[in-house]
Amino acid sequence: MKILVATEKPFAAVAVDGIRKVAEEAGYELCLLEKYTDRQQLLDAVADADALIVRSDIVDNDVFDAAKQLKVVVRAGAGYDNIDLATATAHGVVVENTPGQNSNAVAELVFGMTVMAIRNMYNGTSGTELKGKRLGIQAFGQVGRNVARIAKGFGMDVMALDPYCPDEAMTEAGVTPVHSVEDLYKNNEFVSIHIPATPETKKSIGRDLITLMPKGGVLINTARKEVIDEDGLMQALAERPDLKYVADIKPDCADELKPKVGDRVFFTPKKMGAQTAEANINAGIAAARQCVAYLRDGIDRFKVSK
Ligand code: 3PG
Repeated sequence: MKILVATEKPFAAVAVDGIRKVAEEAGYELCLLEKYTDRQQLLDAVADADALIVRSDIVDNDVFDAAKQLKVVVRAGAGYDNIDLATATAHGVVVENTPGQNSNAVAELVFGMTVMAIRNMYNGTSGTELKGKRLGIQAFGQVGRNVARIAKGFGMDVMALDPYCPDEAMTEAGVTPVHSVEDLYKNNEFVSIHIPATPETKKSIGRDLITLMPKGGVLINTARKEVIDEDGLMQALAERPDLKYVADIKPDCADELKPKVGDRVFFTPKKMGAQTAEANINAGIAAARQCVAYLRDGIDRFKVSK
């Protein structure tokens, strides 16, 4: 049996070594396709794979059609909006993710970008501090919880909105539950976005919400660019010269926006949130173990497909 790791943005080498060890100890062959530049390379490589490990790589109908032996796809990470779940099911393929494995890395990047924003991108001018400020967390999942933990260390007051999370789970973590998205944006100088990209959430954060933020507000997006209504974002930043937006991956409007607002925005050139050795090891090895568990024992504990 063959496990293919196909990563346009590769794992750290140490993570690949760990993945290989898990596969080979189980008696499986590990194949590696890294930094591929052409979809055809993926389609060729997946042809005889029994399991596929990916990151944000697009796994669509073409991939499932090409993958005649495929039984399981594991997204080494949290968000699986890159995988066509319905088509996977139609092809008899199970899809899993590795929840929580890279969440600390993403949460640390939230603060890396936030401090940079309030120190004016380290341009030498006087900035502000996080201590005593209010942070609103939009979705209290694995990343949101890590963000709350770190925010406490900075001495911030933390609120969170998450219709799927009981209030008690927030209060136990020292976080004040908020029950409307408007209240979250209105009452926090900092808002950190952690919602997945779904048909309901896409373009859900626009001018009306962003301009509710208090003076000097900073919006931090380490989730997905698709959840932002980019016209609304541009309008909000034009109307409110006090607001800032930092995001892990460029919005489509970056080239138009950047000359207008300069250092009030910052975008990573590639999605960097999970790009640490630790997160690669955690998510990569978890993915390899999940492939083995499924191929050998039919265990699909982290199944996200129906
Ligand atoms: C995730 O959903 O886990 C993160 O966005 C990480 O994505 P990446 O593996 O492409 O860095």
